[in-house]
Amino acid sequence: MPKKTSRTFNVAVIGAGAIGLDHIRSFRQHPAARVIALAEVSPERGREAAESFGIDTLDTDYRELLQRSDVEVVSIALPNFLHAPVGIEALQAGKHVMIDKPMATNARDAAKLVATAKQHRRQLMVGQNMRFSPEVQTAKHLINQGKLGEVYHAKTCWSRRSGIPRIGSWFTQQQFAGGGCTYDIGVHALDRALFLMGEFDAASVSGQTFSKLGPLGKGDGNWGKGEIDKDAKFDVDDLAVALIKLRSGRTVLLEASWAAHLPEREFFTSQVFGTEAGVMLNPLRLIRPSRTGYVTEEIVPSTPLVNENRMVHFIDVLLGQAEPYVKPTESLAVQKILDGIYRSAATGREVRIK
Ligand SMILES: NC(=O)c1ccc[n+]([C@@H]2O[C@H](COP(=O)([O-])OP(=O)(O)OC[C@H]3O[C@@H](n4cnc5c(N)ncnc54)[C@H](O)[C@@H]3O)[C@@H](O)[C@H]2O)c1
Repeated sequence: MPKKTSRTFNVAVIGAGAIGLDHIRSFRQHPAARVIALAEVSPERGREAAESFGIDTLDTDYRELLQRSDVEVVSIALPNFLHAPVGIEALQAGKHVMIDKPMATNARDAAKLVATAKQHRRQLMVGQNMRFSPEVQTAKHLINQGKLGEVYHAKTCWSRRSGIPRIGSWFTQQQFAGGGCTYDIGVHALDRALFLMGEFDAASVSGQTFSKLGPLGKGDGNWGKGEIDKDAKFDVDDLAVALIKLRSGRTVLLEASWAAHLPEREFFTSQVFGTEAGVMLNPLRLIRPSRTGYVTEEIVPSTPLVNENRMVHFIDVLLGQAEPYVKPTESLAVQKILDGIYRSAATGREVRIK
């Protein structure tokens, strides 16, 4: 539970699509947050959201909200290509910024975001919500306690059988999304594994991406509220694999798919391997040898260290009641790896990460 305080923060949410509504709902769970303004280019979607959440100000131009001195926090729930430009403008306008994942559509823009936040002394956080679950926080605690011994490898995966976020939406167009499943769900799987390992900087990446089912109109899912362009070319990846070598020499194997012939509807897991034991999510299991053989012990998640809601946590950070659980430099490092996967796929070579 967030601590009671007299200080409040006025929040503007930009984008009232599928996750924008979640941003609004999530901020409203903190007693010190007030969502006072919303920007949405679709007048209907904007009106519906503003009415149902009782938000006073609605605009189709987000710049109007950035000019308001009473808005202190901006939460960005826009198509990927707008994350960096809108985030940078918001930081320059003196706002604290929460951006949904991926941080940007390339590492250069992600680095600009980090530099602008530093320059203007504002908080910037990427909403890597999958890090905040009690299972992940408990797994992290077990690793920090040394239960795994020396951690040296992770295997992480988010694979869907039929989960393309609507073919023909911005998600499946390179110019708006910047990438496909790698940026959309690979980012969660990768971020989670690196977080658990406690190391973000990679030395090299070898990756491959595929675009096999989406272009055939197969594997469609039902996520997102944006418009569908039936004539738009599906020009992003629907499956990706990568081997990432971290600076320490430790490794991460990543797999992501929006659409693939899988036995299950969806498979989202991360495994971390240490010299004494391994952990696997979800559910959280500790896997270790014992005198009687191998034991797979299901672990009941402990009370989370930080609030499991990323927006509530962000307000806690602004109140000085929590340390940022997702640091901008970590998200930049993740972005560099994701870009490395695309570069490696394009060149057919292992790429060095600077
Ligand atoms: N953290 C998560 O688990 C999670 C889940 C889903 C989506 N996301 C991310 O959230 C972002 C938004 O995804 P979504 O699923 O809500 O997409 P969506 O298509 O449902 O919504 C995007 C909204 O942005 C609006 N928009 C576009 N340009 C705008 C502008 N200039 N000003 C104001 N509004 C504008 C669109 O009209 C639309 O309503 C994406 O970057 C996505 O990767 C994160």
